[in-house]
Amino acid sequence: MTLEQEIAKRRTFGIISHPDAGKTTLTEKLLLFGGAIQKAGAVKSSKIKDHARSDWMEIEKQRGISVATSVMGFNYDGIKINLLDTPGHQDFAEDTYRTLTAVDSVIMVIDCVKGVEMQTEKLMEVCRMRSTPVICFINKLDREGQDPFDLLDEIEEKLNIKVRPLSWPISMGKTFKGVYSLYEKSLKLFTPSKTTVEEAIEISDINDPIIDQLVGENNAKQLRADVELIEGVYPEFEIDDYLSGNVAPVFFGSAVNNFGVKELLDTFIKIAPTPIPRETTLREVEPSEKKFSGFIFKIHANMDPKHRNRIAFLRVCSGKFERGNNYTHVRQEKNIRFSNATAFMAQDRETVEEAWPGDIVGLYDTGNLKIGDTLTDGEKFFYTGIPSFSPEIFKEVINKDAMKTKQLEKGLIQLMEEGVAQLFTFELGSRKVVGTVGALQFEVIQFRLKNEYNATVEFAPQNIFKACWISSKDQAKLQEFVDSKQRHIARDKDGKLVFMAESKAWLQMVQDNFPEIEFHFTSEFKETPEALNQN
Ligand code: G4P
Repeated sequence: MTLEQEIAKRRTFGIISHPDAGKTTLTEKLLLFGGAIQKAGAVKSSKIKDHARSDWMEIEKQRGISVATSVMGFNYDGIKINLLDTPGHQDFAEDTYRTLTAVDSVIMVIDCVKGVEMQTEKLMEVCRMRSTPVICFINKLDREGQDPFDLLDEIEEKLNIKVRPLSWPISMGKTFKGVYSLYEKSLKLFTPSKTTVEEAIEISDINDPIIDQLVGENNAKQLRADVELIEGVYPEFEIDDYLSGNVAPVFFGSAVNNFGVKELLDTFIKIAPTPIPRETTLREVEPSEKKFSGFIFKIHANMDPKHRNRIAFLRVCSGKFERGNNYTHVRQEKNIRFSNATAFMAQDRETVEEAWPGDIVGLYDTGNLKIGDTLTDGEKFFYTGIPSFSPEIFKEVINKDAMKTKQLEKGLIQLMEEGVAQLFTFELGSRKVVGTVGALQFEVIQFRLKNEYNATVEFAPQNIFKACWISSKDQAKLQEFVDSKQRHIARDKDGKLVFMAESKAWLQMVQDNFPEIEFHFTSEFKETPEALNQN
């Protein structure tokens, strides 16, 4: 197959949701359709097996939440689907944000009883920043949920995206009858079942009396009224509006009952984007370019603490990746050969000889790679759009065992490279402050430092509101600012200057007092050409 054909058959996406909306269940059903697993329950049980493999994940197991993200590849109807799992727990949101940099589209699961929940709102913000196309799946229609029109309004309002229903539920909860596909013009009747899939009945005309026979007169009447309203209120579905991230098509179903999932998948493979072009520091790179390039978006913890090997997750962006080839590690300005590379097919890992744009490859790494690294076939550019966001919670690392200082330093660096948290080192006194999105990471860090590096730490809470990356067109002014605010200046992992603001009001005051200084809330900002020249 040619490069173009390989690209055309790939869809790389992630499922996002607030915990408990049904992400795991939907993932499992999609894998069942793809023939990647044989029975329900396999996804959850595999998660538990994974945890047993590495001790630190005991923490996660005890709490019964998913910390690990993984990749599941499967084939469906001639299409190679790469599904990137994202942790639902909000403390691991940063991990999810980064995974979203590696997908081309997203399916968002919403619980019809609970509607749009907080975590969904945050994740949608990240999708919007990147104009990622989103499909909504409204789940749990077998339960008494909110009115479907209200749900659509809520999505538009809270998630700040236009919606277009492509299927429509006929009643809900105990009287749930099925869904009418506005896209395929067909009716699917609901029978609660965890395994079987009912065939859809084609309906050429919504006024066909067969609908009355199948769902009852009242339901048929309601459906016709609803469809008329939808056609009147929502503009015709245009695929380009979806691909540009402006309109989210909406499907209704019940994942646990395997209902509406096949329709979702069938439409998904028709409309979801193939691997998209991506921005770099030099230019936009097309997936169809002959030369290989890609970036690292995730690093998986030591499988075996005795050997510090890790798996780096590479998203292939252009050309063909071939195992055993020499590729340029742009940051380190050296060539690396990856003889040990894995593909992720459902739960199995298998050695991969070649991979194409959209594919995720697992690279065994002994400490060369970190999140955000770019690999190319010679050219020197970096993929952009993998920023660090300002953390929410900050704590100082207190070393409790002076004999293990070296181990602690090493451990901290490695954990930060994996993206577990962000480390800020203060200019004054070299205090080390760890910043995270959630409280749970501190336990993970403490546990892993002890188990893998034999270092004992405690954390001291810090009065910090935000980490702001700072820059200025005028280097003298920047230096002046750094000197005057010395106690609050730190460096991030890449040595970039960061101002640690104590409160919102104080930050505002400082911003007003130093108009020449630019304050950024993500690590990735466009430096003004003047500043670059002076650096
Ligand atoms: P998550 O990954 O988004 O956190 O959600 P998950 O799939 O684990 O689903 C959360 C709960 O919702 C599960 O119940 C699951 O069975 C249930 N669920 C998923 N889809 C549907 C649906 O269409 N209808 C109904 N009624 N429930 C659904 P649980 O009791 O927490 O787990 P389990 O014992 O069923 O596995």
